Amino acid sequence: MGAYRVCGGKKISGELTIGGGKNAILPILASVILNSGVSVLHNCPRIADTFTSIEILETIGCKVAMEGNTLIIDSSGADKCEIPEKLVGKMRSSIIFMGGVLGRFRTVKISYPGGCELGLRPINYHLKALTQLGAEITDEHGFIIAKADKLRGTKINLDFPSVGATENTMLAAVFAEGETMIVNAAKEPEIADLQNFLNACGAKIKGAGTDAITIRGVPRLHGAEYTIMPDRIAAGTFLAAAAVTGGSVTLRNVMAEHLYPITSKLTETGCGIQTRPGIVSLTSPGKLRALDRLRTCPHPGFPTDMQPQMTALLCTANGTSIVEETMFESRNRHVNELMRMGADIILAESGRTAIIKGVKKLKGSTVSSKDLRGGAALILAGLAAEGTTTVTNSEHVERGYERIEHALTQLGADVVHLCSESHLGE
Ligand code: EPZ
Repeated sequence: MGAYRVCGGKKISGELTIGGGKNAILPILASVILNSGVSVLHNCPRIADTFTSIEILETIGCKVAMEGNTLIIDSSGADKCEIPEKLVGKMRSSIIFMGGVLGRFRTVKISYPGGCELGLRPINYHLKALTQLGAEITDEHGFIIAKADKLRGTKINLDFPSVGATENTMLAAVFAEGETMIVNAAKEPEIADLQNFLNACGAKIKGAGTDAITIRGVPRLHGAEYTIMPDRIAAGTFLAAAAVTGGSVTLRNVMAEHLYPITSKLTETGCGIQTRPGIVSLTSPGKLRALDRLRTCPHPGFPTDMQPQMTALLCTANGTSIVEETMFESRNRHVNELMRMGADIILAESGRTAIIKGVKKLKGSTVSSKDLRGGAALILAGLAAEGTTTVTNSEHVERGYERIEHALTQLGADVVHLCSESHLGE
C-alpha cells in the first residue's frame, strides 16, 4: 500500500524517452509459449504486469531472465498447462495466455478472471472464438478448462472488436489446420506488434490493424529477437501532464500516428502539437479550452485508457466538457476523487457520462486510486492543483507505468513515491 505525494504548481517541461507498451508486451509474452526456442525482447517495461506475466511463464516451465529492459525467454522446456488462480487474480488480462497454452498443448486450465475495477469484463467472445476453432470448453469449480484434439481454421466474426479476444484468437489459430479469418477484429496498434512478433517467429499472419486478420496455420514456431513498440498511453499521459500544467514537453521513441486520436483532442483544448519521425512535442496555452464532447471508442477512436487523464485535465478548462465512457461500465471511479479536490463534475447515464464544468483551480487533497488510469489521472490533477496531493493505492499505477514519479520529476514535477503507509505522514 504505497502512495504518491504530489506538490502542485510546477510546469511539466523538458524531454522524455517513452518505454515499451504495457498492452504490447502482455500479448507478446503470452505468445512466446507457442515457440519452443529462445526469444529476446527489447524495450520491455519494468512494470508489475510484466513481472506477473513472467511468473505465469515460469509456472508453465519457461526459463526467463531480465537484464534491464531486455527479456530472454527459453520456452523449450514449457510443459504445464495450468495458470494458477493467484496470478490470474493479480492480472485479469492473463486470460490472453489461454490461446497460446491451448495452441501449444491442446489443453489449458485457468481460473475465471472475474471482474475488476472497470466492470464485469466478461470473456464470452474469447470462449466463443476458441470453441469455433475446435476447443471443448468446460468449467469446474471456477476454473475454465479448454481441450482440443485438433484446432481447425475457420471464419470467426467477433460481436465486438475486443482487443483481448482478437489476440487470444490469433494465438490459438497459429497452429490450427488451414486458414482462420477474424472478422470485426480490434485494430489497436498493439495487435500489429503481436502479428509482427509472431511472424518473426515463423507464423503466417496478415491484416493486423484492419478489421480482418487472417492466420494460416503452420506446424511450429522458432524464437525471435524483437523490440516492443512504445507505449502510446504512457505518451498520452505525459502529454496531458504538460497540457494541464501549462508546460511544454518533447517525447522521444513514439509513433505519432498511434497518438493521433489523443493529440487531435489535445489540439482542440488549445495545445500546440509538433511531430517529427519518432518524436512528438506539445506546448500548452496555460488555460485550456473545454471539449464539447469526448467519446471513447475502439481504435482509431479516442482510447478509453486516456479517458481518466483527459477528465482530470478538463476539470480546470474554460467552459463545460462532456466525456462519454462507452467501453467500460465502471471507468469513472476517479470522478469522486477529483470532486474531493474541488472539481465540478456531474455523472449521468448510470455513471458513463461526466459533465465537467471547469473551475479555476483544484486544491490539493488526499485521494485514492481505484484503478491504473484513474490513479494516473489523480496524479495529473495533483500536478495542476494548489498545495499537496497524496494519491494512495499506488500499486494500481505501478501496474502500468515504470516509475512514473521518476519520469515526472525529470520533467520538473515534485512527485515522491512513498512506498509504504508508514511514510505517508512524511
Ligand atoms: C484491452 O483490454 C486493454 N488491456 C485495456 O487496457 C483497454 O482498455 C481495452 O483493451 C480497450 O482498448 C490490455 O491490452 C492488457 P476489450 P481488454 O476486450 O482486451 C467487453 C489499461 O488501462 N468484452 O477490448 O480486456 C469488455 O467488457 C487496460 O491499459 C466482452 O463483453 O478489452 C469491454 O466492455 C484497461 N466480452 C469491451 O468489450 C469479451 O469476451 C472492450 O474490451 C471481451 C470483452
